[in-house]
Amino acid sequence: MTAPIIRRLADLRAIHRNWIRAGEVVGVVPTMGALHAGHLSLVEAAKAACDRVIVTIFVNPKQFNSPEDLANYPRTEHADADKLSPYGVDVIYVPDPEEVYPSGFASSVTVAGVTDVMEGAKRPGHFDGVATVVAKLFLQTGAHQAFFGEKDYQQLLVVRRMARDLDIPIEVIGCPTVREASGLAMSSRNMRLSDAALVQAGKLHPILMRLASDLAAGGNFDDLVGPAKADIAAAGFDEIEYLSLCAADDLRPLNNAVCPARLFVAAWLEGVRLIDNVAVEPAAK
Ligand code: PAF
Repeated sequence: MTAPIIRRLADLRAIHRNWIRAGEVVGVVPTMGALHAGHLSLVEAAKAACDRVIVTIFVNPKQFNSPEDLANYPRTEHADADKLSPYGVDVIYVPDPEEVYPSGFASSVTVAGVTDVMEGAKRPGHFDGVATVVAKLFLQTGAHQAFFGEKDYQQLLVVRRMARDLDIPIEVIGCPTVREASGLAMSSRNMRLSDAALVQAGKLHPILMRLASDLAAGGNFDDLVGPAKADIAAAGFDEIEYLSLCAADDLRPLNNAVCPARLFVAAWLEGVRLIDNVAVEPAAK
């Protein structure tokens, strides 16, 4: 059954009040729409853990770095509602823009530290936009649990830090990245790639996994990063913005896998910026 689409905060709160009175656990899956199997896996996780599930769809202007990117972002509300219908979601919250950013809105949430590197460094203001909208969505939905994909691992840490720092009573749950058979991480950006580029993009994950396994075997990142970048370029990528090894808990840069770590990459293919990351096991001492 298709879930009701709610556009006004007052209507969402009226429904939410009944759930809370009944002692139900509420989960939220924040999205910007253009739903794919990665989002649907978050919905499945939320359904398994919670009595009630809200999926939010809001293309957040504050997190885009260019007006063209915002304008080109796919808006597919009807298709998204159809995709959600088999999952028994309780509400699809598609807030009117003024419900999120009413006239005169003048506040912003900034998370320091985990935003200093990678996406935070390359996309100024992006995480302020994410943290601000997610704080609002957490407060508006009153959810007990929120589900985010590890595909955007840095975003997951930013949102977790923000909720802790602001005492928002919500558990932020990270869910594994969903991949195509090739290993390519699911992303709404993939739909902008040609068939040939999709094949090239599929080569990224095996390169990351090889590098992760060399690091787990005791390899040194400084020695391994050059050859790995050459492999990514040979796969057909036009530009590598970063390939970084960071601690999994706070994203401090590492040269060896001395603790649970992650490898992160951002690279361009056919004018599309792709990001991915994989876990790196700590190397045996
Ligand atoms: O990951 C996304 O789709 C967005 O960054 C989010 C978390 C929905 C905030 O707009």
